[in-house]
Amino acid sequence: MSSIENLIDEKTLQERISQLADEINHDYLDKNLVVICILKGAFYFYADLTRKLNPGTRLEFMRVKSYEGENSTGKVDIKLDLDEGSIKDKDVLIIEDIIDSGNTMTFLQNYLEEKKPNSIKLCVLLDKQERRTSTIKPDYVGFTIPNHFVIGYGLDLNEKYRNYPEINCIANKDEEVNKIEKDKQLIKKQLKNH
Ligand code: IMP
Ligand code: MG
Repeated sequence: MSSIENLIDEKTLQERISQLADEINHDYLDKNLVVICILKGAFYFYADLTRKLNPGTRLEFMRVKSYEGENSTGKVDIKLDLDEGSIKDKDVLIIEDIIDSGNTMTFLQNYLEEKKPNSIKLCVLLDKQERRTSTIKPDYVGFTIPNHFVIGYGLDLNEKYRNYPEINCIANKDEEVNKIEKDKQLIKKQLKNH
């Protein structure tokens, strides 16, 4: 029997998002910031984060698709693109739900470079560092997480479970339940280190 186990609760998510917003506001003071929401996965994170950013920040949306089930297809499709000229000479911050192999973000950064922004940085809520197969490094990270497949707060499994208000895992065995509980406590500690 499988069960849904919580990995990051709502309060922990919101506390970390406030910390990230403070950092971003400080770093982009007096800059021409454009934040790009990568749909669909990042939409709750983006909504919570952008409401804490300096007024005057421009909001843009893209949709990319790179995943089927629990495995990356290795292929990235742009399903919704920016308007022509919307990031030229601007300071771009990509807002993404999770970075795993890094393929999607490597592709997207290269794609956006061609649109001649002044700068491009990457902000991810979750970083599955141990799964990285490319050299890309996010500039802002909410939480570094171990190799669990996570759902909720925008993240899906085959388009389901996005609307859980917190980050959860599917556990299939008792040992997994225990591991998730231990990881949850470790993740909470990351708040204090920022
Ligand atoms: P990457 O190209 O391997 O870095 O994969 C990034 C994309 O895969 C993210 O934008 C997510 O849509 C999806 N993804 C990676 N890990 C998970 C997960 O644990 N849960 C849900 N989606 C995931
Ligand atoms: Mg995604």
